Amino acid sequence: MMSRKYDDLVPSPDPVSHRVRLISANWKMNLNHLEAIALVQKLYHLLRPEDFRYAEISIHPPFTSLRSLQLSFEADRMPFTLGAQNAADEPSGAFTGEVSAPMLAKLGVGYVIVGHSERRRLFGETSEEVARKAIAVQAMGMRPIICIGETSEQRRTDQTVQVLTEQLDPVLSTYPVKALEGIVIAYEPIWAIGSGESASPELVEEVGGSLRQLLTERVGSATAAQIRLQYGGSVHPGNAHEFMSLEAIDGLLVGGASLDADTFALLVKSC
Ligand code: PGA
Repeated sequence: MMSRKYDDLVPSPDPVSHRVRLISANWKMNLNHLEAIALVQKLYHLLRPEDFRYAEISIHPPFTSLRSLQLSFEADRMPFTLGAQNAADEPSGAFTGEVSAPMLAKLGVGYVIVGHSERRRLFGETSEEVARKAIAVQAMGMRPIICIGETSEQRRTDQTVQVLTEQLDPVLSTYPVKALEGIVIAYEPIWAIGSGESASPELVEEVGGSLRQLLTERVGSATAAQIRLQYGGSVHPGNAHEFMSLEAIDGLLVGGASLDADTFALLVKSC
């Protein structure tokens, strides 16, 4: 039996969009499992019950900390959702160094980031591969957070919407139609990631609006209305609220500012 306190900490949907907000901490390749446990314990201590009711909070540590955090969340009834940063597109087999979606599901993972720009750029992941990973994640009952974003050059030459459309296209054309409403799309302009230079709220609202329009055209308005959009790229406690107030945006994907419990707690509270 879960305690009352834990049961109550369920996020309420946004009253206007009816979507549940999602704030995700992408730790990238940082923190060992002991540091990971210490961070979530401190974070939980710093957050108030209303913070958990405002938004779902997913924590995406490296693979090596997933089991430790799963146990910590369960033992201390911390209402965080466990997240991963990547998954293989195959369920098992001779793929040295890979971790599959069934393995993540077994650890209680709820969300898996796929197609982060660092994986596309440094590890050569294509949009087709990203779509296969998203489907593998969905097949195990988890939700993919599909990252898309343009380079500064693509932005300068007015190719943003075209690039984002190309990145999303393989997902929209191959993903199981009935499950599409469960996907999360993270709009992360590549030039804004880790640069300290976030996109302006006006730009994010404009791109978010274009993405919603694209989704409506491709999957129909009822399904599009369920799909959550996150913004990511140099989000910090000083600008998080502005992004969360945008009509098109339902959540945040936070890198650097999620690596310190005080900063991330401040960011969540500021929303
Ligand atoms: P950042 O990273 O918040 O450090 O810019 C965001 C991300 O890469 O998901």
